[in-house]
Amino acid sequence: MTESQIDTETLRGVIARELTGARQRTALLTDSVDEPDLVRQHSSLMSPLVWDLAHIANQEELWLLREVGGQEAMHPEIDPLYDAFEHPRSERPTLPLLPPEQARAYGHEVRGRVLDLLERARFGAPEDWGTRLLGDGFAYGMIAQHEVQHDETMLITHQIRAGSPVLAPAAPGPAPADALRLPPEVLVPGGPFTMGTSTEPWALDNERPAHTVDVAPFFIDTTPVTCGAYAEFIADGGYDDARWWTAAGWEHRQRAGLAAPMYWNRDGGRWVRRVFGQTEPVRPAEPVLHVCWYEADAYARWAGRRLPSEAEREKAARFDPATGLSRRYPWGNADADGEHANLGQQFLRPALAGSYPAGAAPCGARQLIGDVWEWTSSDFLPYPGFSAWPYREYSEVFFGPEYKVLRGGSFAVSQVACRGTFRNWDYPIRRQIFAGFRTARSGVAESALCAGTWRISEHRPRCVRSSSTPRTGCTSKHGRRASSDQGQSTRTGSAWAGTRRPISSRPISSGPAPSRPGTGSRSPCGATSPSRTWPG
Ligand SMILES: [Fe+2]
Repeated sequence: MTESQIDTETLRGVIARELTGARQRTALLTDSVDEPDLVRQHSSLMSPLVWDLAHIANQEELWLLREVGGQEAMHPEIDPLYDAFEHPRSERPTLPLLPPEQARAYGHEVRGRVLDLLERARFGAPEDWGTRLLGDGFAYGMIAQHEVQHDETMLITHQIRAGSPVLAPAAPGPAPADALRLPPEVLVPGGPFTMGTSTEPWALDNERPAHTVDVAPFFIDTTPVTCGAYAEFIADGGYDDARWWTAAGWEHRQRAGLAAPMYWNRDGGRWVRRVFGQTEPVRPAEPVLHVCWYEADAYARWAGRRLPSEAEREKAARFDPATGLSRRYPWGNADADGEHANLGQQFLRPALAGSYPAGAAPCGARQLIGDVWEWTSSDFLPYPGFSAWPYREYSEVFFGPEYKVLRGGSFAVSQVACRGTFRNWDYPIRRQIFAGFRTARSGVAESALCAGTWRISEHRPRCVRSSSTPRTGCTSKHGRRASSDQGQSTRTGSAWAGTRRPISSRPISSGPAPSRPGTGSRSPCGATSPSRTWPG
């Protein structure tokens, strides 16, 4: 859905399409395993799949049938079982959960009633919101996002699950012809840009309001860091050298015995990894997956770089210097098609680095939406003017330094929950999520001081710092300067001479917050200790 207002019939169609698409994925993920696999807990970090199945239905009933539709509870006695705050994931296998067939029937019944409700729904513009949940169909959009978020969570459970493969994923196509000629990094110029949104109809509270952020010039990797580049970090002793790790990261690396990304193993002289029950060679040109924040941060330090801040990551993805505006997506304001991004579990793996040229941002960076969630250096904090809505437990209770922000979305989440302003967050030790990263460096100061030489790895060059190497600037093996003294890259073909037109923020309208249905919910189900790994 675009930011412009659309008519009621069109909005009904959008909602029905999103709800139906999410349910088709839910059905595939839960019908593809037998009953013992549905009720088993495959990891203490994850819920049994049958819990997700009924929880999706329960949240849909709470928010749409009860809160929006004013209907009576269908089965009030089960509400506490599916309250993410009341029962952490580790406890859920012990609960008297609905058996699979009853969970399916419950979801089917709720969905039927919701579609009936949708037929009669009237949606107002935000300024007319009498019942704010209905403005622009927000409640429906929130529930569609909730289900696709759980579809991603359930796919994580599938990846953790032991046993023979049950999913038959298609593979993304080859990288485009220019992938190997891409500059390793692109410049994002300094200056203000609009971060967050006050107008995206289905944006969640932590994405709001739009506000101006002044960002110093910086360089950011053109693509996510690849498995091949990460393997160099391992081969160079990166896991054994405390210099590259924060104190907390080094302590965790030792305590947890980290030595490679999750699911990686040595097979003779090569790395292999397990992917949805199948073992395969690690693909060097594929973005690295299943690394925690500490590993991403250590890699960046080893490479003489750093993780981008959340603001940098959003500016790289959204800012259009030609207009001075922030886009909804890197490629523009139109929703994605298959040419823009790897989303929605169409493929169950990231595309090769450099893919999706049609989805590139104005700065030239690719794959800023889809493929892998990307860790940023930033803590999960509220924006200036933040207002919790529709309830505190979606975001507000998680704000603080213990969570790191991830951006961009993965191949496992659908577009309805993946836009340029979308924020995800998790503990820095989490590895089971579909997360990778890209690195950055400051634009002017570091480009002038950049130590060492550009070393061409098999798949991407990196700037190698060495205390014995004269600091004479960064030159790639191809003889290109990494940057000029003015912070203007000569290595990217993008036109970054744009105007800098700050956009004034418009606070979201502040209608009365509805009472929180049930006894605990977020997105609307809420998160749960110990694993945030959204959603509950
Ligand atoms: Fe949930």
